[in-house]
Amino acid sequence: MASSFFVAFAALASSCLLLLHSRSVSGWLDSGATWYYLREGAGTDGGACGYQGDVEKPPFSSIVTAAGPSIFKDGKGCGACYQVKCTGNAACFGRPVTVVVTDECPGGGPCLAEAAHFNLSGKTFGAMAKPGQADNLRDAGNIRIQYDRVPCKWRGLDIAFRVKAGSNPNYLAVLIDQESGDGDLSAVELQHRGGSWAPMQEFLGAVWKYSSGSTLQAPISIRLTSSSGKKLVASNVIPSSWQADRTYRSIVNY
Ligand SMILES: *[C@@H]1O[C@H](CO)[C@@H](O)[C@H](O)[C@H]1NC(C)=O
Repeated sequence: MASSFFVAFAALASSCLLLLHSRSVSGWLDSGATWYYLREGAGTDGGACGYQGDVEKPPFSSIVTAAGPSIFKDGKGCGACYQVKCTGNAACFGRPVTVVVTDECPGGGPCLAEAAHFNLSGKTFGAMAKPGQADNLRDAGNIRIQYDRVPCKWRGLDIAFRVKAGSNPNYLAVLIDQESGDGDLSAVELQHRGGSWAPMQEFLGAVWKYSSGSTLQAPISIRLTSSSGKKLVASNVIPSSWQADRTYRSIVNY
């Protein structure tokens, strides 16, 4: 009796440890940070990930970043979440801000020279400052920060699939957005009505594509594999009435 109680207690304690541990993936690391474009803006247009104007809208709301190669990972890092904070400038608040990777730093400069670099939106950069000191921090321009990979929490939102322009009955390109947990994907597969699972190719960051020799029969299901290997199926998420430039919200998330 006592020992089974102890076993149950130990299991509970270790699952709590796992939960605590899962908040931080890497621990705090050092990197450089710059910001660009509008002081309160999104900076990036989500170009290299394919999010485009979504970066300004909720749930991103301009708290986004472009990142150097070690974080952008040739587009595989799109959608991953990081906490960033700064302590090295008098205007720094030291409180972490959670930001999403939505673009790649343009080649060259500190973005390539540093082991890790965040080219943050002006809004995110300012959010690391003490109240009222956002512009003092922005004026510093290029600073050292600490960053930590964290799970994404898109509270109350399920994963969204945006059919990209250019899709047609034989070709489908979808932007996959708001995955909680890892936030980034290592593989995506598609299954059309009556077909078997087939791999999609990464087209541009968060956009995955599939070309078929014949007409894809909708509805279409999409199976995701997150960067840590967790699988999730969005059944029939692309309806038979699908249209390009429309977003289809699934009823699942990590
Ligand atoms: C940040 O992004 C802007 C706009 O693309 C660019 O001009 C600037 O060089 C970038 N900074 C770094 C360090 O990559």
